[in-house]
Amino acid sequence: MEVRAKPLWTRMAVDSAGGGWPPALTPDAGLRTALAVLDLGMVGTDGSRRAVPSAGASYPYECYILTRDDAGTTGLHQVDPGRRHCQLLSRGPRIDEALRQAALAVPEDGAVIVLATRPWLSMRKYGDRGYLYTQLDTAHLHMNLALAADSLGAGIALRRRPQGLEPLVSEYGECAEAHSTLAVTAVPTGDVPGAEPPGWVVRDARAGRPASLRRQPHWLERLCWESLVNDPAGAPARPPCTAVPPPTAPRRGDRAPLVPRTAFHDRRSATGFAPGTLLARDVLSTVDRALSVLGDVLPDAEAPPRATLVLRQEEPPEAEATGPAGPDVRWLPELSDASVAEAFMAQRHLAAASAVLLLHAPTASLIDEAGGSQLWTVLHHAGALAQLVYLEAARRGLAVTGVGGFDSERWRRLAGLPADHDVVYAVAMGVDTPDAQKLDRLSVAYAQNERS
Ligand SMILES: Cc1cc2nc3c(=O)[nH]c(=O)nc-3n(C[C@H](O)[C@H](O)[C@H](O)COP(=O)(O)O)c2cc1C
Repeated sequence: MEVRAKPLWTRMAVDSAGGGWPPALTPDAGLRTALAVLDLGMVGTDGSRRAVPSAGASYPYECYILTRDDAGTTGLHQVDPGRRHCQLLSRGPRIDEALRQAALAVPEDGAVIVLATRPWLSMRKYGDRGYLYTQLDTAHLHMNLALAADSLGAGIALRRRPQGLEPLVSEYGECAEAHSTLAVTAVPTGDVPGAEPPGWVVRDARAGRPASLRRQPHWLERLCWESLVNDPAGAPARPPCTAVPPPTAPRRGDRAPLVPRTAFHDRRSATGFAPGTLLARDVLSTVDRALSVLGDVLPDAEAPPRATLVLRQEEPPEAEATGPAGPDVRWLPELSDASVAEAFMAQRHLAAASAVLLLHAPTASLIDEAGGSQLWTVLHHAGALAQLVYLEAARRGLAVTGVGGFDSERWRRLAGLPADHDVVYAVAMGVDTPDAQKLDRLSVAYAQNERS
């Protein structure tokens, strides 16, 4: 078989969207609020690190913002967090109709942030498991944005898998799924009204070439998507919309934020763990606090994953160290580093983890084919809870990392989990090591046991 140069060369060519710079736009109050939320909860302050973790640093999602202008017309913006670039894609009744379908309202002077997943960005590295990571990664982000908005003083309303927004999302990029929304009430953003929020460029892309606004997935992304979607008409069916809870009251000075602002800046994934153990009570309080805030932010937790905390300290944890809503605790002082590394798919940098939070659920509830699968709900709650553990651990100075490369069966045996459960996610905590290379960030899919 021969690879022919001419068609190959044509395929490899690229052209720019062209059309010059669309005109700059004066962001309305809602957009300014949303960008301030994204700055804290998504972009992060450290140029080399986003505000949220992501398996293999692939960030397999995109973000839209809906706001209303003075005349009450809703506009749809697309955000590029890496470049801190925001563009108005469209405005008008079609967007209002989509919002009506999704039973969503844009708060006055506020905004609705829409997250859409692009599974292929993770699947190109991790294969089928990349879909799991996509759901967990996006849930991390959704929770972080909600907490960031709360810490800025906004009222929030969260929604999972909104029905009705698909047409908007797919109009600007196929092979994507609407994952969740976050409505935020207006907050003062501190910068000059009418100016672009610092560091952001906001443009009216409608003035450019309309065709260039549409992201054309290439064949690899399409192939990935088609492998997921059984229904030829589109994405998997969703349950009908239920009533939307109203936004929480904006946070005033009399209530402390759910998570202090500093935790967002201090968050990072541990690159490994040094030998030694954390105090059991610190780990338990971290997980307790995360579970309690999860219950506050997502009170409709129909299908939370079960949380089991493996502790490796020599001393048994005090009986009263965890609250009634705390995790199940397994004290396993005899668990060896070799067993931990094996159960984490030979990720040796995790071997000395002092504690491992296992999030698990009945396998049957995940794979129910009769339309009642809790898969997306369980993964959403697992990612959201893990984000809370990250932030609480950052606040307390504990090293922490989410771990998607785990052997569910091994952990089930090691921790004595119910035989009919599957682990969906793990969070490891331990003693920090000086910054080493984060293997999971390399292009090789280390957590899948691949070696270059
Ligand atoms: C769903 C998920 C799975 C992850 N799996 C692993 C893993 O198996 N091993 C690991 O060392 N880190 C893992 N991480 C951490 C990522 O490598 C880390 O978030 C990424 O490198 C970016 O670094 P940062 O979190 O410090 O910004 C995971 C993170 C997430 C959100």
